Amino acid sequence: MSRNLNRLLVSCNKNFLSQRVSSAQNFLRQQSQASNPTKGKGPISWKSLGILSILGAGGLGFMYYVKNEKEEAMMRERKRQLGKAQIGGKWDLVDCTGKTRKSEEFLGKWLLIYFGFTHCPDVCPDELEKMALVVDEIDKAPKSPGIQPIFITVDPARDSKEVVEKYVKEFSPKLLGLTGSPEQINSVCKAFRVYYSAGPRDQDNDYIVDHTIIMYLVNPEGEFVDYYGQSKDKNQVTSSILVNMAKWDQLQKKSWFS
Ligand code: NI
Repeated sequence: MSRNLNRLLVSCNKNFLSQRVSSAQNFLRQQSQASNPTKGKGPISWKSLGILSILGAGGLGFMYYVKNEKEEAMMRERKRQLGKAQIGGKWDLVDCTGKTRKSEEFLGKWLLIYFGFTHCPDVCPDELEKMALVVDEIDKAPKSPGIQPIFITVDPARDSKEVVEKYVKEFSPKLLGLTGSPEQINSVCKAFRVYYSAGPRDQDNDYIVDHTIIMYLVNPEGEFVDYYGQSKDKNQVTSSILVNMAKWDQLQKKSWFS
């Protein structure tokens, strides 16, 4: 009986011992998991939770970035459209044969438009000379769609169709000279934001017309694209026009395929 009891006690002791050992092993395992959580068998460790939240934040950030980019592109487009709406537009004028010429008939062509007056002592001749050279360069460029240069007078009182015809021929046979009634000239100048103001007359009844000195680039859709002031030289104007033409070409191809 006492032997039996003894054996029981020994086995109890054994059980107790093995329990102690396994709890110690558990403790050690937990310790090692805590110090090296990547090897943890649990479904989510703090580190993976951290990675997930970083990825989540990154994903949200990326989505936000994409959304922002899209909105910015839309805003740029709106601004571009507004800018285009502010300058240029439809016009009708008179050419050297007395025929009415409307902006619509030039759709499909690139235009380079300059406003001036035939009595201008130096600025207009310089600008028109530059314009003629630019147009020749553009026409010579490979795959060039060509460009139509147009001179519009801001002095319709003196610049009759005959005067304008004689004047434009001095610069280039390609240059189209346009005049019109004071109302027609006023309207096209307003559209292109061209300022002009006739100064006082001298004893010979001569006067200077103060005016905006800008060349306007208009695309084949009749939209204003770019402008070039007096400070831009022949090469700068030429390369900018070629870049604008290439950009426009690219856009046409894109909209064709999409
Ligand atoms: Ni001038």
